[in-house]
Amino acid sequence: MRIQFALFAVFISFAVSAQQLKITNGPYLQNMEQDNVTIIWTTDKDAVSWLELAPAGDDSFYAGERTRFFEAPHGSKKTGKLHRITVSGLAAGTEYRYRIFSKEVLNYEGHRVMYGDIASSDVYRDRPFSFKTLDPAKSSIAFKVVNDIHSKNENLESMLSKVTKENTDLVLFNGDMVSIFNEEKEIFTGFMDTAVRLFAKEVPVFYARGNHETRGKASSRLYDYFPTNNGHFYYTFRHGPIQFLVLDGGEDKPDSDIEYSELAQFDNYRTEEKNWLRKAVREPDFQSAPFRVAVLHIPPVGSTWHGTKEIAEKFLPLLNEAGIDIMLCGHLHNYQLINKGDDKNVNFPILVNDDETYLDVTADDKKIDVFRKDLSGKIVDSHSIKRQH
Ligand SMILES: [Fe+2]
Repeated sequence: MRIQFALFAVFISFAVSAQQLKITNGPYLQNMEQDNVTIIWTTDKDAVSWLELAPAGDDSFYAGERTRFFEAPHGSKKTGKLHRITVSGLAAGTEYRYRIFSKEVLNYEGHRVMYGDIASSDVYRDRPFSFKTLDPAKSSIAFKVVNDIHSKNENLESMLSKVTKENTDLVLFNGDMVSIFNEEKEIFTGFMDTAVRLFAKEVPVFYARGNHETRGKASSRLYDYFPTNNGHFYYTFRHGPIQFLVLDGGEDKPDSDIEYSELAQFDNYRTEEKNWLRKAVREPDFQSAPFRVAVLHIPPVGSTWHGTKEIAEKFLPLLNEAGIDIMLCGHLHNYQLINKGDDKNVNFPILVNDDETYLDVTADDKKIDVFRKDLSGKIVDSHSIKRQH
């Protein structure tokens, strides 16, 4: 009797467990390029996941078997609660539809795996999700920039509630989206759940890390949720007429500051980044782009804090030679425009965005128009950058 009860209890626990598998966060698009994208989501229990890809079209997602992609970086499919499927071999500037699946792993011992239920996105009652790859040949593009949200989801919603894949090619998060990462779930409760609900399933997010994102026990896992095309928080990507140069200023105080509890190594980090930057600005893609937009959370001038001084000393000599058309910053929680020539140490304009305004940017091969808008969407000021090279 006791054995029967025990077996029944095991059955019940598996059955209940299988029913409860849920996609808890996401999916959202990362590392979008011309030919690949990484799609990320989480589940509440260990699972193995896959993604089905279909070309854009009005036909049913069930019209035929769709191509499957898995996360199997070293030959074996990964199991766990964080799922990151990279879809490659895509065509530039092309729209695709996708569906995600996770199958619960109830037990995994040796080579024996016991699977449970499957959770997936719905393509029966809802339309499948879709995205469009980046395209250097696209004649005009539109993107939004926010910074210093510090987990104020209501501000993020006010700024980005009208973002759709039809009106926005990409969204840049320019740092300090949270104040501290004590737990990984704060990535979602702090801002990503709102971003996913509004647009991030279908519009790619590009992240420029802020100094606050380096803080807290979970901060070392941040990259797992926001992978880039080169394994670093500093990277370049191209869309339409703009070569984007995303930089990471690290922390703002000296590494030895008591606030960092002997964990900070940002002086070395910025030196490594400088060595990468020296090569990045010489790349043919960078040199041939009609516009070069730098994105950096901490402004490189206007402060005598250690982080700013390091950024100025290590990055500005290279950036001043790189033909930067504009740099977009945050960090100060105040708007500031530093025109070319205002500061002797920098030879390009720097726009420091406020924490309660966002940048609504359009660009073609002749000019970039930056509209700074408040929480109600009203234009506060605008800036036009003409093509220089
Ligand atoms: Fe900051």
